Amino acid sequence: MADSFAISTYPDVPRILSDLDSLIRQPIRRLRPAALERYLDEYFEKTCSRSKSMIDEAKNYIPGGVQHNLAFNYPFPLVFTKAAGPYLYDLDGHRYFDFLQAGGPTILGSNPPEVLNQVLDLLKTCGPSTGLFNEYELKLARFIADHMPAVPMFRMLGSGTEGCMAAIRVARLATGRKNVVKMGGAYHGWSDQLAYGLRIPGSRHFEAHGVPKHVFKYTQEFFPGDLDALERVLRRNRLGGGTAAVMIEPLGPESGTRPVAKDFNSGVRRLCDKFGALLIFDEVVTGFRVGLSGAQGYFGVEPDLTVFGKVVAGGYPSAGGLGGKREYMKYLAAGIEAGSKKALIGGTMAANPLSSAAGFFTLTEIERTRASEKAGVIGDRLTAGIQASLKRRNLPFVAFNQGSICHLQTVGTMHFSIDFNKFWQIPGKMKEIKARKTVMEEMGAAYMAEGIVTLAGSRLYASAAYTEAMVDEAVGAFDRVFANIEGALT
Ligand SMILES: Cc1ncc(COP(=O)(O)O)c(C=O)c1O
Repeated sequence: MADSFAISTYPDVPRILSDLDSLIRQPIRRLRPAALERYLDEYFEKTCSRSKSMIDEAKNYIPGGVQHNLAFNYPFPLVFTKAAGPYLYDLDGHRYFDFLQAGGPTILGSNPPEVLNQVLDLLKTCGPSTGLFNEYELKLARFIADHMPAVPMFRMLGSGTEGCMAAIRVARLATGRKNVVKMGGAYHGWSDQLAYGLRIPGSRHFEAHGVPKHVFKYTQEFFPGDLDALERVLRRNRLGGGTAAVMIEPLGPESGTRPVAKDFNSGVRRLCDKFGALLIFDEVVTGFRVGLSGAQGYFGVEPDLTVFGKVVAGGYPSAGGLGGKREYMKYLAAGIEAGSKKALIGGTMAANPLSSAAGFFTLTEIERTRASEKAGVIGDRLTAGIQASLKRRNLPFVAFNQGSICHLQTVGTMHFSIDFNKFWQIPGKMKEIKARKTVMEEMGAAYMAEGIVTLAGSRLYASAAYTEAMVDEAVGAFDRVFANIEGALT
């Protein structure tokens, strides 16, 4: 089948970056105090009391009251009881448009019956795990290989974090080198070595509390989208034993929150070839959201290794893996083979029948219904609607999308950076970012009160479960929030 992609038009990257530059130079625009008070009092206090009391109790047993970082919402997390298609439902009986989509995996929408029924059948026959081979491991790996020419082999793991760890281990074994270069600001899971340059390019180890600094001896970052900066790091590394791998998210850090030029990935490929480093694509978000051949198919660039997560288990648990060329994947072969070096990886629950089957049935359903492309059309409509509302209300906020991955920057926290040579700027910048984050949390609360669940108030994942009418309704809800921003035209 011909490839189809979620991205109809590649975003105008220079314009977006310039709009974001302009956004962060301006004073913060926040909700009018009376409007915020109204949302907090009339919605959260008066109508979310069952969630509030459950979270209050949970705080006694769970640090912060919730287990998942993305569930930690202002003024207090809500308790969700049902997810279906484009909707979420909370304990107090409210219905929301779901643009969090479980953090990305549910391209089909939540809990699609086509997958659920298959999963139920499987659970009835073999249960969720056996620790032994099941047919869906093969079916899933074959499906991926059929759609991604650079991934003839796939090893399933428990999470995207594990996939990134495995990728680095394989790259070091294959090249005999130690250095790993990542794009500043990108999140590649929470392993020690990659807790570097998180969110804010140039921030180095600053957010890696609890990780000894020496762990980063062989991790470097380069400024997002800057091929010259990457080349400088690679050249420097040549003096220090060379580079094992360059790891990037192909759309740019944080799922393209800071987008990169369309020819950036081919430039990285060229540099990797020049310096003998492996190219690792972290396709945890883009893998199948951009299309069934991933962002690598969209950009026409073949990485050596590809990290998978999220939708690879269809929104079911244990979603992760590493795929790539045979010459590298051989380091992940299970079993004992005397004399050959292996990268140690594992996981009791990795590739269990439940996650492999859920992943396989989800991907086949995405293919059957062209869901990635459909979700992209929804993302386009949502973004265009939000952009029109921002324009009408004369607000400097920045909205853009890469298919079904939509970004709505109201404070631009993700656009800050730290000059790589001026580390003394770090504390001051972090303080400003913290102040802006507070405002972003307020925005997230207002969206929630208007019936919209977002990812941290700044990212919106669209799914194929939306209709155009639903999107227009959601845009109306965003517009009601924007009407309450200080200085907005009414
Ligand atoms: C690009 C990227 N890589 C890696 C990860 C880590 O994946 P996981 O949460 O499954 O460990 C994430 C998670 O959001 C991600 O977005």
